[in-house]
Amino acid sequence: MEINEEKIESLRKAVDKAENIVFFGGAGVSTESGLPDFRGEKGLYRQKYGLPPESYFSLRLLKYDPEEFFKFQRKRILGYDVKPNAAHLKLAEWEKQGKLRAIITQNIDGLHQEAGSKKVIELHGNIKHCHCMVCHKSYKISAVMETEGIPRCKICRGIIKPDTVLYGEKLDVRLLEKAADHIRKADMLIVGGTSLTVTPAVSLVHECKDKPLVIINLGLTPLDGRANIRIYDKIGKVFSAL
Ligand code: OAD
Ligand code: ZN
Repeated sequence: MEINEEKIESLRKAVDKAENIVFFGGAGVSTESGLPDFRGEKGLYRQKYGLPPESYFSLRLLKYDPEEFFKFQRKRILGYDVKPNAAHLKLAEWEKQGKLRAIITQNIDGLHQEAGSKKVIELHGNIKHCHCMVCHKSYKISAVMETEGIPRCKICRGIIKPDTVLYGEKLDVRLLEKAADHIRKADMLIVGGTSLTVTPAVSLVHECKDKPLVIINLGLTPLDGRANIRIYDKIGKVFSAL
């Protein structure tokens, strides 16, 4: 057996026994659906733009150069028509079987819900929903995609912003507490498609203490040494083999 086949076999056995799995994921979960990640080989942060790549995801750019902010959002973030892949679908299946406690994701694409998952915590928000930054009226993403320049609120002319967490904004503390609680109560934590480089990913994963930790990621992560099973492969491929 090849190394990965052996590891996948161990993972299959662990998943069969588990009753309370928590999955923690990132952009690598959606690359097999055709969305780019950030720090992977073809990641958004490896490309050249006018400004340093992280600034395109910052509150500062939205405030000081909203035209540029929305140009980027429309071209690089929203211009995709994608479907859930084998990883999203398998997680939804586990939830139906009562094996999965929660999905905690740093992704904003909503693909877990599209696959049928209900127990999803979106730490960085969801791109499909927007709101007026002044009067907080809710909008659909079409309010950004089907307009040009700076999208404005119909009522107060405030800027319409996607409900995603930008650099310079705080994460929702209640969501973080909920996520940590799920991880503490899980009988197994599977981490996949995330470089674990953005706070608080590492500290959240540490909440699983001495319980089995599985990491499925193409690139290295700072917690590889802590993992009971570590698979360097595509997550959709691994999940479809389970
Ligand atoms: P990253 O791009 O940092 O990490 C994605 C990881 O997934 C990389 O290590 C890739 O090697 C790996 N990967 C890519 N495709 C994969 C696949 N098919 N199977 C397995 N692994 C794969 O993305 P995140 O960790 O999600 O935040 O990044 C965290 C945050 O940084 C994002 O939510 C975003 C970004 O700045 C904000 O915008 C606030
Ligand atoms: Zn408004």
